[in-house]
Amino acid sequence: MSLLEVRDLVTAYGSIEALHGVSFHVEEGEIVALLGANGAGKTTALRTISGLLRPRSGEVRFAGERIDVRPAHEIVRLGLAQVPEGRWIFTLMTVDENLRLGAYAEPRVPQGALDRVFALFPRLAERRSQVAGTLSGGEQQMLAMARALMTRPRLLLLDEPSMGLAPVLVRAIFQRIAEINREGTTILLVEQNANAALRLARRAYVLENGRIALEGPGPDLARNEAVRQAYLGVGARPKARALMTRPRLLLLDEPSMGLAPVLVRAIFQRIAEINREGTTILLVEQNANAALRLARRAYVLENGRIALEGPGPDLARNEAVRQAYLGVGARPKAPEHSPGGVG
Ligand SMILES: Nc1ncnc2c1ncn2[C@@H]1O[C@H](COP(=O)(O)OP(=O)(O)OP(=O)(O)O)[C@@H](O)[C@H]1O
Ligand SMILES: [Mg+2]
Repeated sequence: MSLLEVRDLVTAYGSIEALHGVSFHVEEGEIVALLGANGAGKTTALRTISGLLRPRSGEVRFAGERIDVRPAHEIVRLGLAQVPEGRWIFTLMTVDENLRLGAYAEPRVPQGALDRVFALFPRLAERRSQVAGTLSGGEQQMLAMARALMTRPRLLLLDEPSMGLAPVLVRAIFQRIAEINREGTTILLVEQNANAALRLARRAYVLENGRIALEGPGPDLARNEAVRQAYLGVGARPKARALMTRPRLLLLDEPSMGLAPVLVRAIFQRIAEINREGTTILLVEQNANAALRLARRAYVLENGRIALEGPGPDLARNEAVRQAYLGVGARPKAPEHSPGGVG
């Protein structure tokens, strides 16, 4: 019996069907990746499994039991937790309060669970009384994962945990996922970062327009040319809204966040075009490689101070920048201490 069994799942938003009969399974102890282009239906699949959306037809079984007919809070109690896309932490509460709320399903907060998440994420222990909305993007992602772990789930659904993080932090998050899995939690992982996900996952599925298009062992899919094809065929998300004001200066805060590589390329091309048409641009990006190729000059912000500045190509060759932001060179000793911000 599979820990999670999804069969012929159809989920719709009003008259628009997002999943057209999706079937897959996750065995106890596995890390399974669910890949697909923007809009393929990944988040819809996770939200249907965790009970936040009702399927139109099909079924979801968890440890043999049908859960598609149950409300979300009961599904959490059965041992299934989701870390949603975009994190959804309680920004006005402290780290500690967020974690305690994570354990709402239990009569009292289990100290063991708290110790476990602080051991996994020491950065959160240091910042337990900080208001969560003031944490960096990477710290917020860690908090979202830690909060889900407070329920001590058998199955953890992760929706794009690496979204918006610098390469060093992506590596740190993926190491944590591997650790959480080694400690006995089964994982279903949705990721745009297909390369990293396929290195980690034992098996993977590719969703295409609401259907499973491919499946197989992670390393096999990593070699499969069609996997890259799964990321093609979606139009770029235009940054039209901000441009309606025809600004002289455009401030862009992580425009590539959460996008598949092809879309990232499309967004960066658009930024170059906007600049050629006369708009000055201040770009905040975790994707330091792409940003440094595009930018005439760049600044590196570290712990609230400008640590470095220079022409883009110079910084791209700078060893400190390469190690901290381009994910090359020596592995940092404590990656969770990196603030992860490139200005
Ligand atoms: N609340 C909603 N109402 C209407 N349509 C929706 C809603 N949420 C999602 N959709 C549509 O359902 C389809 C699948 O969306 P979903 O969010 O599951 O994609 P995804 O694979 O998670 O994409 P991404 O990688 O961009 O997060 C998309 O066409 C999307 O526009
Ligand atoms: Mg999504």
